[in-house]
Amino acid sequence: MKEVSGFSKLNKRDKISWLAKNFLYHNPLDVAKQFASFWHDEVEKQKLFDGFSENTLTNFYLPFGVAPNFLINDKIYCVPMVTEESSVVAASSKAAKFWLNRGGFKAKVISSVKIGQVHFSFNGDHRKLNTFFKRKKDVFFDGIKHLTANMEKRGGGVRDIQLLDFSHLEENYYQLKVSFETCDSMGANFINSILEQLALILREEASKYESFTGKEKDIEVIMSILSNYTPDCVVECEVSCPVEELHENSHQMLPDDFARRFVKAVNIANFDVHRATTHNKGILNGIDAVVIATGNDFRAVEACVHTYAAMSGTYKSLTIAEVTDGIFKFKIRVPLALGTVGGLTNLHPMAKTSLDILGNPSAAELMMVTAATGLAQNFGAIRSLVTTGIQYGHMKMHLSNILAQLKASEEEVIKVQEYFVDKIVSFSAVREFLELIRTKSYKV
Ligand code: MEV
Repeated sequence: MKEVSGFSKLNKRDKISWLAKNFLYHNPLDVAKQFASFWHDEVEKQKLFDGFSENTLTNFYLPFGVAPNFLINDKIYCVPMVTEESSVVAASSKAAKFWLNRGGFKAKVISSVKIGQVHFSFNGDHRKLNTFFKRKKDVFFDGIKHLTANMEKRGGGVRDIQLLDFSHLEENYYQLKVSFETCDSMGANFINSILEQLALILREEASKYESFTGKEKDIEVIMSILSNYTPDCVVECEVSCPVEELHENSHQMLPDDFARRFVKAVNIANFDVHRATTHNKGILNGIDAVVIATGNDFRAVEACVHTYAAMSGTYKSLTIAEVTDGIFKFKIRVPLALGTVGGLTNLHPMAKTSLDILGNPSAAELMMVTAATGLAQNFGAIRSLVTTGIQYGHMKMHLSNILAQLKASEEEVIKVQEYFVDKIVSFSAVREFLELIRTKSYKV
């Protein structure tokens, strides 16, 4: 039976066995063994992971690595990264090393305001609603004090509440747009709790407001939720050096040519949406890897980054590059709503370790490190694209995946790596070469 009810109440082994019988058609014992092989040896640790999500059957591993030598605002970081893409950590590390001797990354947080919204319907005179809002604004602030007190002690809280009228777009639709400072936490729970409280106050106050009559007293709250679009939670990071110092990157190209091609490649991503998407994906290769390693919400970051990139009405590059008076400058501006306290950052043991590796940064510091990693990643990608082409480095890194897939022995790995030093790597080329070795028809 493929339909099931009460699945979440089954124990883990029964869930796996149900899955095996109904969807995998293998021997449930074999399937159970495979799932169990990825359980954590320590029962308590496994319980922790089980608790993160519903219907957890096992763990899904991703590589955890570090990119050393990141000099950011004169401090050296070793950046933890979680990614399955073979060339990402290597590219970040290489770019970090390159900029290490050229002043490093200069980063600053421009602002850290987050947004939440109470979406509601008001059936009545909008001028009366405006007056109501102005008169009751203090009541809104007073009614959330018990929720904001702790955050205020840390320097955060609710910065502003605005009433927005969208009744020209959707019948009777208005919004409370609330700005928050959530300090070192990403703040989703804090924001959502306050919004729900504001929604209650809104309904309550409207119901007893003397100037409202009839339906005006009955405000209908549609939903209260944070917005993942945080264009005012933004960080900037840049690198720069004299053009002639780019020679290390230019693969027999003159540094001037390298810089010109680099700038052009970035410019293309400013007007061509197909290129811009891939360009920004490359930046997110770096950003996501840090966001995941530190237990932050990569879906929120992705959603926001893409909306931000399209802010002008055209989806654009998050980075800009230029050469002015012989100086090459490369810069990223990106919204990153990150936290270093609360949520998974405290619960996931490896997220905690990542933050330790970074010296337990504030959220602002983590924003800067993450932006630097995105910029480094983009630098590495564009460098390869405008010189050797991406496959050169990519497939070399991919070679080890191919070899693992083809179950190459240590001895075979060495032979294959030597053989492909100056050749194009592809799955079929590696397989054919391995066959040659295995049938002894290849002589070294
Ligand atoms: C691959 O994951 C990322 C790149 O395609 C990024 C880019 O094209 O800029 C290499």
